[in-house]
Amino acid sequence: MTWSDLKSRAKAADGRKILDMLDDARVQEFSASMGDLWLDYSKTSLDAETRDLLVAMADKAGVAARRDAMFAGKPINETEGRAVLHTALRNLDGGRVMVEGRDVMPQVLGTLARMEGFARAVRDGYFTGQGGPITDVVNIGIGGSDLGPAMAYQALSPYHDGPACHFVSNVDGAHIADVLRPLNPETTLVIVASKTFTTVETMTNAATAKAWMAEKVRDPAAQFAALSSALDKTHGFGISETRVFGFEDWVGGRYSVWGPIGLSLMLAIGPQAFRAFLAGGQAMDRHFQSAEPLENMPVMLALVGIWHNQGLGHATRAVLPYEQRLARLPAYLQQLEMESNGKGVGMDGSTLDVDSGPIVWGEPGTNGQHAFYQLIHQGTRVVPCEFMVGAEGHEDELPHQHRLLVANCVAQSEALVRGRTLEEAKKTVAGQFEGKELERQARHRVFPGNRPSTTLVYPKLTPEVLGQILALYEHRVFVEGVMLGINSYDQWGVELGKELAKSLEPVLAGEASAEGKDASTRALVTRLRRYA
Ligand code: F6P
Repeated sequence: MTWSDLKSRAKAADGRKILDMLDDARVQEFSASMGDLWLDYSKTSLDAETRDLLVAMADKAGVAARRDAMFAGKPINETEGRAVLHTALRNLDGGRVMVEGRDVMPQVLGTLARMEGFARAVRDGYFTGQGGPITDVVNIGIGGSDLGPAMAYQALSPYHDGPACHFVSNVDGAHIADVLRPLNPETTLVIVASKTFTTVETMTNAATAKAWMAEKVRDPAAQFAALSSALDKTHGFGISETRVFGFEDWVGGRYSVWGPIGLSLMLAIGPQAFRAFLAGGQAMDRHFQSAEPLENMPVMLALVGIWHNQGLGHATRAVLPYEQRLARLPAYLQQLEMESNGKGVGMDGSTLDVDSGPIVWGEPGTNGQHAFYQLIHQGTRVVPCEFMVGAEGHEDELPHQHRLLVANCVAQSEALVRGRTLEEAKKTVAGQFEGKELERQARHRVFPGNRPSTTLVYPKLTPEVLGQILALYEHRVFVEGVMLGINSYDQWGVELGKELAKSLEPVLAGEASAEGKDASTRALVTRLRRYA
């Protein structure tokens, strides 16, 4: 099947009623499970024949071969000539992973053991600040060096039994100022998380934190740790190599929470729970490597994504966790999906003849229901929704609240697919209006329905389950990327803005002219200088 065949099939599916397709057999057939996760994708218009064709398309695109090449450490990041091996970071059994003829596992496990040693020392009070045991940790990083640990830290708050962690990412001084204000520098550990150790935001914030620490602490660098591949630069910053945790260039920023970049999470939940998180990711890796396509959860989630975006033309994808602690998951997945698959050029340099990856956004339920669900239910565009919910919460004392949460999640996917007809709507207002007004009022209460969604169910958001969910999405992005023929592991699209910001800063400082800039840019700079 080609992309245009897929479009034709999508056209043919127009008007297909999902509700009419839904029966027990379909739910059985259009769902997949892995470990503790169950994915229901029966509330979509995908039919068995199209799904088979999509499976064949994935096969033809070389998904399985490329997956094996990834796990085997081949340089599948072809524009940068690098392997893609975040999976090695959770390869807890330590089976060999070769990169250019060298087994990388001794080093990966060695770094994990060093992180654990450091985490224990901090948590048990052997590593102290100038003013005593570490009470607070500030992780300074941005993009993948922030979103992964910040999201997972919040997700796993019931497992926190270490120091409190704080996350600073934005170059906006307001961010670091607000985070540092209530902290005591004498009992704070600062972690500078940057793969490259050159990112302007992170290095600027790191310098600010060092100056803040220096006001109260004799040897501020002694309360700094670094997570980076650039060991020469961490040395230059003055951080002792005993507190530098390195990783190699085959770990992409947005895939890095599993290794040293996850140090803040490990400090908060402890090495054992961190290992459970890794084990969850590894379980999903094994499933992805071995399950047949129709049973393969990442493959199926990817095919549903391709059906919705490249097939039916739904450009956006809402991620809706019914789990307040997953509030940062949509932002995390935004980077994972959009930085990976937001590309318009194929691996060979040719222009893509199909839409690139989707626009990903979302908020936890039930908050989103009282904000943007209006458009999801009655707007003119269809937004495929990806719900996720745990059967149990951690608040044993509030079971009724969890039941309400779950009921809302399931109700939303039901409402989206079912909708409400004009006749049904009329009944809801029959007692209040008559005649033409009844008709008019009822029309506002009609729900078109037939709106697709998937629901991911898990028992409880444990470290292991979180690991499974994140690895599921990583592999989903991988499959979609291979099918599109793009390189999911570079991010050239972030560079131009960085370069231009560099040239504009001296203009704003009045040290350079705006000559050569377009008229709007010149006007913006002039206005901002005038207001400053
Ligand atoms: O600018 C994009 C990016 O390179 C992301 O891919 C990355 O996660 C982030 O910046 C931070 O990079 P670093 O860890 O090197 O500071």
